[in-house]
Amino acid sequence: VSGLVVAMDGPSGSGKSSASRGVARALGLRYLDTGAMYRAVTWWMLRRDVDVADAAAVAALAGEPVLALSTDPDAPGITVDGVDVSGPIRGAEVTGSVSAVSAVPEVRTRLVDLQRQIIAESLPGGGIVVEGRDIGTVVAPDAPVKVFLTASAEARAHRRTAELTGTSVEAQRAAMARRDTLDSTRATDPLAKAADAVELDTTPLDLDEVIAEVLRLVKERS
Ligand code: C5P
Repeated sequence: VSGLVVAMDGPSGSGKSSASRGVARALGLRYLDTGAMYRAVTWWMLRRDVDVADAAAVAALAGEPVLALSTDPDAPGITVDGVDVSGPIRGAEVTGSVSAVSAVPEVRTRLVDLQRQIIAESLPGGGIVVEGRDIGTVVAPDAPVKVFLTASAEARAHRRTAELTGTSVEAQRAAMARRDTLDSTRATDPLAKAADAVELDTTPLDLDEVIAEVLRLVKERS
């Protein structure tokens, strides 16, 4: 089976989502937002009144939520137990709790399995662009193209503030720093650049330039 996997990792606000969708569109590939999966499980846990700080409680229920995703880069979306949660998973409540849930090994094992399944199913159709924190290191270590996106804390906070309403750059900077520290220091599959990933600092680049650079890497490496 031939098919391309493009791994796109990096911290929040590095421009991963827009760039990943743009690259998928340009190449006619599927698109998988693994962050949405961790967010959907978190939404489900909060809905069930699970204390997300209680790792044992989260682990015990990790197998319960049933996820279904669209991998269309023009219409990404996700349901849990049949409920469309594409909007609610972007809210402050889920964003504030997702790092605790994604640190639980039982949650990761289950979602990594599902991610590998989705990737395998995409290969006959040409392949997939996968964005997350551990794609190049854990989920798809054999991906021929691995990009690690970064941006200055300033640029990331500005971008995220522009996407949201009712928040300040300062509040965003603090919230993102907190989430990045949790994601980078957890014991299981932390946010990390794979040894063979190409680091791309998006601070001085606009979206089209980031997409063009990733497309150049794809041409070079696949
Ligand atoms: O990318 P996004 O901000 O939607 O990711 C939400 C959270 O999901 C991250 O802060 C991280 O805790 C978790 N995540 C992860 N592994 C991934 C993708 C996301 O742990 N591959």
